[in-house]
Amino acid sequence: MKIRPFAAADRAAVIALWQACDLTRSWNDPDTDISFCISRAESTILVGEADDGRIVASVMCGHDGHRGWLYYLAVDPTLQKSGHGRAMVAAAEAWLAARGVPKVMLMVRPENDKVRAFYDALGYAIEERLVFSRRLDGR
Ligand SMILES: CC(C)(COP(=O)(O)OP(=O)(O)OC[C@H]1O[C@@H](n2cnc3c(N)ncnc32)[C@H](O)[C@@H]1OP(=O)(O)O)[C@@H](O)C(=O)NCCC(=O)NCCS
Repeated sequence: MKIRPFAAADRAAVIALWQACDLTRSWNDPDTDISFCISRAESTILVGEADDGRIVASVMCGHDGHRGWLYYLAVDPTLQKSGHGRAMVAAAEAWLAARGVPKVMLMVRPENDKVRAFYDALGYAIEERLVFSRRLDGR
């Protein structure tokens, strides 16, 4: 798998990957999320491309001027448990580190035991914090 920045032609394949990995939610339009992310210098989407050109993995990463964040980490369900997820996280970490970001964070739904085990294996620690949020778009 080759890891490279998202290109315009990847859009449909990336959305299909997110849907296959059950990462899309009714309140987050993936198309809008992609457009917003790639329009900013502080954020990017990295994709994993298989030898046959298929998009088989993704991760969105970016920083807010303080911390780095990961979103939309996905590996094609037929290719999971082969090290691709670890490689995508390493690429996102490198992207953030190259921009001087000292710490990377992410949110996992508490019931998502598989992903907790994955980040445990990568050496990530759970921080006991409450995440507060409020919509700014009037929805
Ligand atoms: C989470 C996800 C990206 C992991 O990708 P992956 O390619 O299967 O992970 P890797 O093969 O790189 O695994 C890395 C390590 O995590 C461990 N791991 C991965 N999935 C695991 C699972 N379900 N249970 C326990 N450990 C797991 C592996 O054993 C491996 O450990 P090791 O290197 O010590 O052997 C993938 O399962 C996925 O796309 N899930 C659906 C989308 C999702 O939930 N994304 C995260 C949103 S917060």
